[in-house]
Amino acid sequence: MNIINNIIIKTIPLLPKKVVKLIADNYVAGIKPQDVLDKTRFLNNKDYEVTIDLLGEHTSDKNTVNKITETYLNLLKSVKEQDLIANISVKPTHIGLDIDLNTFSTNAEKLVLYALKNDNFIRFDMENSSTTDNTINIIKELNKKYENMGTVFQAYLKRTYSDLSYFLNDKTNFRLCKGIYNESPGVAYKEYIDINKNYLKIVELAFKRNSYICFATHDLFLIDEIYKLIDKYNVSKNKFEFQVLYGVPMKGWLQKHLKNNYKVRVYLPYGPEWYEYSIRRLKENPNIAKHVAKSIFSNRKY
Ligand code: FDA
Repeated sequence: MNIINNIIIKTIPLLPKKVVKLIADNYVAGIKPQDVLDKTRFLNNKDYEVTIDLLGEHTSDKNTVNKITETYLNLLKSVKEQDLIANISVKPTHIGLDIDLNTFSTNAEKLVLYALKNDNFIRFDMENSSTTDNTINIIKELNKKYENMGTVFQAYLKRTYSDLSYFLNDKTNFRLCKGIYNESPGVAYKEYIDINKNYLKIVELAFKRNSYICFATHDLFLIDEIYKLIDKYNVSKNKFEFQVLYGVPMKGWLQKHLKNNYKVRVYLPYGPEWYEYSIRRLKENPNIAKHVAKSIFSNRKY
């Protein structure tokens, strides 16, 4: 960890919450549901689609988990009523995976079913590697009944290519990211070059299987390579989309995607847990610190 990362990590928890909020505002849509709905409209008006995430994870109380599921159901209702273009991203441990498989599966199905009735879609984020098997197993089960849902695969995990070899078909809809958790070298590639190589190998697999793939990355080198593969395989525009985290600078690439009529979706987190979430993320993966530092000095991105 470099010295600047170290200073930021040690300093942020000591700063007044108001100051941290100024930083978090670059990445978080607000605290209340209407905050995120307003920001969604702002992004939709600029031709970006959105995926809304209520911040939080690792919830072990059943009542809380059920309330969180209700909040997501209300969001889906509001998206429909307010004529917005946004789906939902939800972390499995936020709706019950830390309690037991049945709680997660029941709440997940509630969301997918409600989304189906409202022409919407649920994305199940992927968390650390201790949750991968359970998440994939439940998603596989639900996928037998529903198509308006999908999960996320992480290119840094050594198992991912093999998982996807069994998983992908022309009905699969998945997000591909590098992976954000601090995993051990036993299970994860640690070098930039190895992660990118695996990422691109997976992109080719998805194209060959005619799956729907969401490219969730800000890595401009990787995006350039993805563009080449889209051309090479002559992939239809309705078989992929680009996704970014709200607030990350993309040096004109989002506008370039839109110009090519490629779909762009912004991952938009919100919620009262913004502070705990920001600090936890920072401690979990200190490399985020340098992005935080950069974002303080960068201009608005949309
Ligand atoms: P990389 O880390 O190489 O970064 C490339 C460049 O992008 C950096 O040099 C930096 O300039 C910029 N950058 C990246 N992240 C930034 C940030 N937060 N702020 C400012 N600049 C930044 N992970 C996971 O494990 N499970 C999941 O479900 C998801 N879901 C998800 C959804 C979406 C839409 C995105 C974009 C990302 C995720 N992730 C995720 C996170 C992902 O795994 C990864 O950690 C980050 O996207 C950073 O990796 P990049 O691919 O951007 O490349």
